[in-house]
Amino acid sequence: RKKVTLGTIRSLFKKKEPITVMTAHDFPSAYVADSAGMEMILVGDSLAMVALGMEDTSEVLVEEMLLHCRSVSRAAKAAFTIGDLPMGSYEVSPEQALQTAIRFVKEGRVQSVKLEGGREMAPTIRKITAAGIPVLGHIGLTPQRQNALGGFRVQGKTCPAALKVLDDALALQEAGCFAMVLEAVPAEVAAIVTGELSVPTIGIGAGAGCAGQVLVQIDMTGNFPPGRFIPKFVKKYGDVWSESFRAIGAYRDEVKSRAYPAPEHTYPIAKDELEAFAK
Ligand code: KIV
Ligand code: NA
Repeated sequence: RKKVTLGTIRSLFKKKEPITVMTAHDFPSAYVADSAGMEMILVGDSLAMVALGMEDTSEVLVEEMLLHCRSVSRAAKAAFTIGDLPMGSYEVSPEQALQTAIRFVKEGRVQSVKLEGGREMAPTIRKITAAGIPVLGHIGLTPQRQNALGGFRVQGKTCPAALKVLDDALALQEAGCFAMVLEAVPAEVAAIVTGELSVPTIGIGAGAGCAGQVLVQIDMTGNFPPGRFIPKFVKKYGDVWSESFRAIGAYRDEVKSRAYPAPEHTYPIAKDELEAFAK
């Protein structure tokens, strides 16, 4: 497979072919996403929860993101990579944001960065893109701002709120974003916003009218225990948790019953050597 570039993304968008994006947080999860043909791989700060067991994404540090970005980048042979700037690493000033974005490229080895926020982030997006680092925007539901939003709620459900999503999208495009994530926005609103833009929207909980789609990998592969909450927009394409649980349970049983390891899992020794040793 040929390396995906921003040129590839632009040509998919022109052809109206949906762009496929998936999160990954380490070498194996990136390797499988890349092998399965994802055009872009996002090292989302959702890894705070799905890989590090944190309560929400506000806890994850730049250094932690960088370690995961480096592991993902090693596995992303074809996919275009995006590193998610964590809360606190870019909001203070455009200079702070550029410094963090440069670390993501130099130390995280990703090809672009993502940051959350609308029109107010335009100067920051300009600063980073002017330094030659592509920026993926993220509007609608912005999880890093959950406390200000009053929780994880759908955005753009009233006319003024939908107009704000559109205004933010236009500001992000104008500031130079190569694409933008639209999260948890009514499908009709997302479709209209998408139609107003000349850069792709990447939807998550935003319907089929977006130019591309993104999902969190452990959600869509079903790699989580029964009973865990998953958002309405997630489709479970697999049951990785059950398969791992079954395999580990079978191993436990076979160790307890001494069925494992069997002779074929052991190494031979020559008879004379063994006799000499056993003496
Ligand atoms: O952190 C993340 O995984 C994300 C995607 C869901 C867009 O921001
Ligand atoms: Na994120």
